[in-house]
Amino acid sequence: MAAGRGFLLQAGDCAESFDDLSANSIRDKLRVILQMAVTLTYGAGVPVVKVGRIAGQFAKPRSSATETREDVELPSFRGHSVHGHAFSADSRQADPRRLVAAYQHSAATLNLLRALTKGGFADMRRIHQWNLEFARGSGEGRRYERIADEIDRALRFMQACGIDLEHEASLHEVDLFTSHEALLLGYEESLTRRDSITGDWYDCSAHFLWIGDRTRQPDGAHVEYLRGVHNPVGVKIGPATTPDELLAVCETLDPTRSPGRLTLIARLGQGRVRDLLPRLLRAVGEAGHPVVWACDPMHGNTFAHESGFKTRRFVDVVGELVDFFEVCREHGTWPGGMHVELTGDDVTECLGGSEEVGAHQLAERYETVCDPRLNARQSLDLAFQCAELLRR
Ligand code: PEP
Ligand code: CO
Repeated sequence: MAAGRGFLLQAGDCAESFDDLSANSIRDKLRVILQMAVTLTYGAGVPVVKVGRIAGQFAKPRSSATETREDVELPSFRGHSVHGHAFSADSRQADPRRLVAAYQHSAATLNLLRALTKGGFADMRRIHQWNLEFARGSGEGRRYERIADEIDRALRFMQACGIDLEHEASLHEVDLFTSHEALLLGYEESLTRRDSITGDWYDCSAHFLWIGDRTRQPDGAHVEYLRGVHNPVGVKIGPATTPDELLAVCETLDPTRSPGRLTLIARLGQGRVRDLLPRLLRAVGEAGHPVVWACDPMHGNTFAHESGFKTRRFVDVVGELVDFFEVCREHGTWPGGMHVELTGDDVTECLGGSEEVGAHQLAERYETVCDPRLNARQSLDLAFQCAELLRR
């Protein structure tokens, strides 16, 4: 991906919930990710590396320590690894036993994902079944069906030519890697192991770990921890990031300049990419770090709607992605990935999209325990637009 030969699709919940770990919701999240990946691969002709924000995304950094509702002030929600989501003093009391529960929930999620990705559900011959019921009739759903028909036809064609598709593993199973923010260092450390063959250390809580925009200080504890493990790692890059800070982080996390080691995830906000991204791209390029540049078009575009709901506009999400691609192209940098918050459920958390979610609908199905997520239709719509950008 750092060399421009692949595209990273990193997607899933803002915060996974202990209360919503049903097999169906995990399966449907996987469906959307698989659909998006097919759309990108077919539409743009590049291999897509699929990474879920899944099986461990239970801890949240917050901008303010407390939250006030009707004169009651309580600790902000910091994820189910820490405490409950309900707005009561009892529920918001931190409980360390939740760290053990987070591990167990992650392991159970991983078991299910393994069964689904390797056991037939992710088979190319089932691509029609990944289309979710409620999305099927929408414009995106129909557009996806057409791609699925074409892939069916191509597979039949290859079979008719005598190619042995039965034994082609890449058609019958997929790799879905897991990721979460490495926020609670005690949790991450306790799952850190040394590889007995190479002697290298790995954080075994996920394949890929990232550092959030609030904890990316070059001399901070989170950078110090991830410096010591060999996993591929990411750093979120918010609008306040200076080139000097970024270079210091790159030097610490990627001193040997290894392709694939470091992914920089820009989350600058719609309308700010043209201003802020060029000097960061230049600085990292001149220092010779072969990073993957990915775009998180979600976290710079969150706002509180007057109805009280925290939301994002789909046009802003697309707008930031478009600008990211353009600026990367202008600087000769491969736009290597997209990082998004989504769910397979038919929620109404982000505004807009082709089947327009209006502000009056936010209350209908606002189910996230943290940031607003794209629903399956909006996610697919975004994948089609991203494929187009990649093709250009
Ligand atoms: C997140 O990814 O949910 C998040 C909190 O991102 P950031 O650190 O970029 O704000
Ligand atoms: Co979030």
